[in-house]
Amino acid sequence: MKRLLDRVAIITGASGGLGRATALRFAQEGARLCLADRVPAGEILELVRAEGASAIEVETDVTVAGSVQAMVERTLAEFGKVDVLVNIAGVSSHGASDDVDEAEWDRVLRGNLTSVFLCCKAVLPAMRERGYGRIVNMSSILGKNGGNPRPWIDPQEQKRAGNLAYGASKAGVHALTYFLAKENAHHGITVNAVAPGPIATHMTRNFPQTLKNLIPVGRMGQPEDVADAVAFLAGDSAGFITGEVMDVNGGAWTD
Ligand SMILES: NC(=O)c1ccc[n+]([C@@H]2O[C@H](COP(=O)([O-])OP(=O)(O)OC[C@H]3O[C@@H](n4cnc5c(N)ncnc54)[C@H](O)[C@@H]3O)[C@@H](O)[C@H]2O)c1
Repeated sequence: MKRLLDRVAIITGASGGLGRATALRFAQEGARLCLADRVPAGEILELVRAEGASAIEVETDVTVAGSVQAMVERTLAEFGKVDVLVNIAGVSSHGASDDVDEAEWDRVLRGNLTSVFLCCKAVLPAMRERGYGRIVNMSSILGKNGGNPRPWIDPQEQKRAGNLAYGASKAGVHALTYFLAKENAHHGITVNAVAPGPIATHMTRNFPQTLKNLIPVGRMGQPEDVADAVAFLAGDSAGFITGEVMDVNGGAWTD
């Protein structure tokens, strides 16, 4: 049986690697889709329609409250409801404390954390009104391991593999997820996060071999690995799971 039959889902970052895989998986599971990104969805719109899904594309900047509000209003106008929000849009950032300046810190916190806050805030009233909702936030293993600080092994590697601002932004996503989960549970709304390890997308095109060697299953993840976890948490059957940060990392971090 299809997991998301007739569910209406907004997917932010839908034009990126994980967003595209999630959109395709949701289409296969029967969802109707709002694909939101600041860059065009391109062929993904045709791919999801080829799966039989109703889909619209809405150009959105998730760091701008007005743009996020317009994304939700467009979805409501088109489909009449929002059942699922998947916050995938995000930006990458490298560097340790000496490398990250205030502007970079602000860019990353806005792109990865404020954006999730804005999107959740914008959909919650419509979800509460109907007494149903599923929110899945895209976090990262780096929100759990503190952004991979290990300068005592190789100080130079830290410029490429240390992620101070990124790790902090994703740890913030965890706290936001925990709060919203408890705040909205009695409205029939679950709020969870997925914390992927390294997944082969544009974002990780320069991923260092030294870190690949630390993945116990012996490979980087594929976008479909993450899409499967998101589809599970977005489904009706996951209604007793909320406030969870689910690892999808090939064993690279366990807690
Ligand atoms: N690839 C990985 O290994 C990995 C691991 C852990 C977590 N993540 C997280 O998964 C998410 C997606 O990563 P990806 O690998 O697909 O990256 P990606 O760069 O392929 O996709 C990111 C998408 O987000 C969009 N985006 C960025 N800022 C935006 C904004 N302000 N408004 C609207 N759209 C915006 C981009 O246009 C892009 O399409 C990110 O949140 C990332 O932090 C990725």
